[in-house]
Amino acid sequence: MPIESTQNIWHNGNLIPWDKANIHVMSHVVHYGSSVFEGIRCYAQPGTSSSGAPAAAVFRLPEHSARLIDSAKIYRMPLPYTAEQISAAIVDVIEANGITPCYIRPIAFRGYGEIGVNPLKSPVEVYIANFPWGKYVHGNDGADVCISSWSRLAPNTMPSLAKAGANYMNSQLIRMEAEINGYSEGIALDVNGYLSEGSGENLFIVRGGTLYTTPLANSVLNGITRSSILTLAKQLGIPVVEQALPRELIYICDEAFFTGTAAEVTHLRSVDRIMVGDGTMGPITTALHKAFFDIVNGLAPDRYNWLTPVNVRVAEPVGA
Ligand SMILES: Cc1ncc(COP(=O)(O)O)c(C=O)c1O
Repeated sequence: MPIESTQNIWHNGNLIPWDKANIHVMSHVVHYGSSVFEGIRCYAQPGTSSSGAPAAAVFRLPEHSARLIDSAKIYRMPLPYTAEQISAAIVDVIEANGITPCYIRPIAFRGYGEIGVNPLKSPVEVYIANFPWGKYVHGNDGADVCISSWSRLAPNTMPSLAKAGANYMNSQLIRMEAEINGYSEGIALDVNGYLSEGSGENLFIVRGGTLYTTPLANSVLNGITRSSILTLAKQLGIPVVEQALPRELIYICDEAFFTGTAAEVTHLRSVDRIMVGDGTMGPITTALHKAFFDIVNGLAPDRYNWLTPVNVRVAEPVGA
């Protein structure tokens, strides 16, 4: 999907023009993948904000900022900002650019300093961009996905709980293979052959009225949408089990769906050309999908304080 530029990007505490947000080719991150990042959505809300512009709110902003700090900590990358400061900077950049709804991409990486694997002497740079972005996993009628021939990151190799740029080399292999073979996405198994997650989404399965998802120990990202769905399932009285899931369970389940900031809640129509249930969005996925979108779109009370309002200066809504 082409990136639509905006006016400003936040860099180390200042807003700079989009076109000036450049790095040197010899920056550490370019050679050794030393970056951590986040993907966050800001949703349109009913009504207008105090400036008269369309109202908008960022979904689970403190949790995303905290995960960025955690990812950096795993990689011994000291961020000179607290989670609260990152959250404030994200609000600033959205308000300055006046683009809602939007996708927000904070990234911290090792910049231009030294050559060599050890990153510790290369400076840490933090940037935050936002831009319009639409649906990620294709297929409004459900996604046709495959089990990838690539495994997810093995434990104690690349840490899955860090949202690190380098992890996405594995994701790229999964996603490319899936798309080249005519699927919208791939589901990777972990190194022991258990279901893990998509290239950029957590996985949920419904069987016999119970909602299953893979635990963090199966090489998954600690997804913020995943945790939101677990909360909503409890609220709706849906039994939830987090346990290692054998591959074949997905072929015989009643419903399956992906969650993620980009994918939101996307139901799976088929896996390896085997229909999931009758191929339509099943009742439990439908209930969770509705509960999720009602909150993010401001149609239901924000009972978990998941929304941070932003007050855009320029009224410039874009299609999501
Ligand atoms: C590998 C991977 N798993 C899961 C997710 C879903 O996480 P979240 O819901 O926090 O976006 C993402 C997206 O960030 C991801 O890249």
